[in-house]
Amino acid sequence: RAVAILKELEEKCAAPVGKLRQVADAMTVEMHAGLASEGGSKLKMIISYVDNLPTGDEEGLFYALDLGGTNFRVLRVQLGGREGRVLKQEFEEVSIPPHLMVGNSHDLFDYIASELAKFVASEDEGDRPPAGRQRELGFTFSFPVRQTSISSGTLIKWTKGFSIDDTVGQDVVSALTSAIERQGLEMNVSALVNDTIGTLAGGRYYDNDVIAAVILGTGTNAAYVEHANAIPKWHGPLSKTGEMVINMEWGNFRSSHLPTTEFDTALDSESLNPGEQIFEKLISGMYLGDIVRRVLLRMAKEAALFGDTVPPKLEVSFILRTPHMSAMHHDTSPDLRVVGTTLKDILGISNTSLKTRKLVIGVCDVVAKRGARLAAAGVVGILKKMGRDSSPRDGGQVPRTVIAMDGGLFEHYTLFSTCLEVTLKELLPDDVAAAVAVVHANDGSGLGAALLAASHSLYLQPAA
Ligand code: BG6
Ligand code: GLC
Repeated sequence: RAVAILKELEEKCAAPVGKLRQVADAMTVEMHAGLASEGGSKLKMIISYVDNLPTGDEEGLFYALDLGGTNFRVLRVQLGGREGRVLKQEFEEVSIPPHLMVGNSHDLFDYIASELAKFVASEDEGDRPPAGRQRELGFTFSFPVRQTSISSGTLIKWTKGFSIDDTVGQDVVSALTSAIERQGLEMNVSALVNDTIGTLAGGRYYDNDVIAAVILGTGTNAAYVEHANAIPKWHGPLSKTGEMVINMEWGNFRSSHLPTTEFDTALDSESLNPGEQIFEKLISGMYLGDIVRRVLLRMAKEAALFGDTVPPKLEVSFILRTPHMSAMHHDTSPDLRVVGTTLKDILGISNTSLKTRKLVIGVCDVVAKRGARLAAAGVVGILKKMGRDSSPRDGGQVPRTVIAMDGGLFEHYTLFSTCLEVTLKELLPDDVAAAVAVVHANDGSGLGAALLAASHSLYLQPAA
């Protein structure tokens, strides 16, 4: 009976190439719609106001705050210009106390600003900005924000585990700036960026061929470089490059082609944001473990997979995290020891047979592969929009295309990232696949935010 449930899951989660192509096509269509008008699509296609990516010339001392992943990070980056590159980079990382994620705006921003103040207070004399200059900060805020300039924007909605009503509709830079002032600090927020934008900027700093960034972590999202004149809803000036970086907010993508199950429907309706972030709920680290838990719960109830009674912990939402799922999925020991101990330590289920453990791995495999394959289809949607999914019509050389990726899921869940990369190759013609590279931009978004703060510094000399 449990095997039958797995089989049914497998069928419903199947993402063969044909289906993935439909998903990629739907992504491209929605990208066009989201660029055409505000509210034209589930994809917000947010204009980032970043029309100049880092060149390598950025110079000076800059700070960055990174809020929205598993951990909150404060960074100090010393940029040495073309010759020096990154001279020094230091950071501190803390996790946000869970009650602040669902409390009020004031408390959350006070917490962030107080961590920033601690970081600044502990720095050496030599690490301070030159006399007469304010400290400058790039703020990576990994949620959907309607940008009103490079350094301002209002929160559209919270995603992932955050839900704080009074921040929605507020300018998050004003909220941060007020909190910084309450700490008695003087600091100018020079750039407000999404983590995808930060990762793209950080990636571009090291490699000129980086044209898109994807985050696969607690949440998932992508950003890419668009032609400003291909954005009908953009009425602002064109930059010299003629480019504009777009934060897609692809986590909110949905399509009838997405393979979904009763488990996804239940997860969504019990979530903090029902009906929202449907693509994210199929792919990202916050949710994969809980999908697995829901499948195991059904197996426990309907097929007595873990004995006559249903293990009570299996009923607890989010108790089985994606890192636990990943640890079980990667277990190659002959008796699947890691699966056994995870089931015991996390779910209180002891004495599982080898057959049961194999079945659990089967569930992890189906759920992870569906997520990874859908993420690959999303990337192909972007390449299609950029005209980089097929060989050039004039027979010319296929341009090198680099996608910067980051996030805990991509970094630590090897079977997931490998599946993503393999699927990407499956979906692209051979010559294009050979020219497409996925690189890990480790913590690129913090560096990216500091770089963008540098290129929007108060103290830049106007170009001659
Ligand atoms: C980090 C980036 O490396 O990845 C963050 O610097 C980003 O900005 C994060 O939000 C996402 O990963 P996770 O797994 O922490 O959600
Ligand atoms: C969520 C956020 C998005 C962010 C992503 C990855 O989808 O809405 O802004 O980029 O998570 O952190």
